Amino acid sequence: MKDLISVNQLDEKKVFEIYEIFKDYKNRYKNGETKLSDLRGYSVLLPFFENSTRTRTSFELAGKILGADTINISASTSSVKKGETLYDTIKTLEAIQSDFIVMRHSMSGAPALVAKEIKSHVINAGDGANEHPSQALLDTFTILEEKGKIEGLNILIVGDFLHSRVARSDVKLFNKLGAKVSLCAPQTMIPRHLEVFEFDRVYTDLDKAIKDKDVVIFLRIQLERQIKPFFSTLNEYSIKYGLNQNRVNMLKDDAVIMHPGPVNRGVEIQSELVYGNRSLILDQVENGLFTRMAIYKFLLSQ
Ligand code: CP
Repeated sequence: MKDLISVNQLDEKKVFEIYEIFKDYKNRYKNGETKLSDLRGYSVLLPFFENSTRTRTSFELAGKILGADTINISASTSSVKKGETLYDTIKTLEAIQSDFIVMRHSMSGAPALVAKEIKSHVINAGDGANEHPSQALLDTFTILEEKGKIEGLNILIVGDFLHSRVARSDVKLFNKLGAKVSLCAPQTMIPRHLEVFEFDRVYTDLDKAIKDKDVVIFLRIQLERQIKPFFSTLNEYSIKYGLNQNRVNMLKDDAVIMHPGPVNRGVEIQSELVYGNRSLILDQVENGLFTRMAIYKFLLSQ
């Protein structure tokens, strides 16, 4: 396993191997070991052809903590703006000695294409509406920390599944680990070939869906990927599919809420509940750092 492109490459054994590395790094970091040398002498290049806050900064910081040299490449300031192709951009990065290429692209499949062409380890940091495997791992580890298991949990994914690479990776990984995963979304955002995703149940009514779930993951409405409207107004979406205090009151006593970020406050989650006592959103962000450290180490060990 040279690259991490899709959660399809991961089985339960690999996920728990990465989890052990994650726990070790997190523990050591919390005990003051904030400078390590596992990646000393390695270079990490981060070409991001789409915007990012969490993924890019955590992959970059993870590399720095492990001792790597890290370089950010943003499409808007690179020679992509002059018309250089993806192939030539990546071959150029390989030629200047990249051990890891952490890549985000708007085109589904772009990291997979690149990985075939070069010797560097390629990590998919999100490709179109296809996959976001490091997010699925950090979501898994956040749930494991909170609930102690994934197997048998009732997990609900709410919202824009149609355009969400996070949700596609999440549902595949949670299913592999034995969770029962359900979807709640407006009819217009439920994919046509639903059988591919192996959902336990599919709802259009959030009040019915939310009651017996252990974990509820709200998805960002991805207006930038919607080429036609999927609901009348954001206000209507929020009334039908947003988290408000009434819906918090319907949750099981020990249920938790998650969101991959960035949150559209007042749309997916009412503003005052974003970092409320049910929310694991900042735990997800923090765990993103240690998950990405673990991914580098895991790929080097393969
Ligand atoms: N969850 C996520 O991918 O966030 P960013 O777009 O900020 O990286």
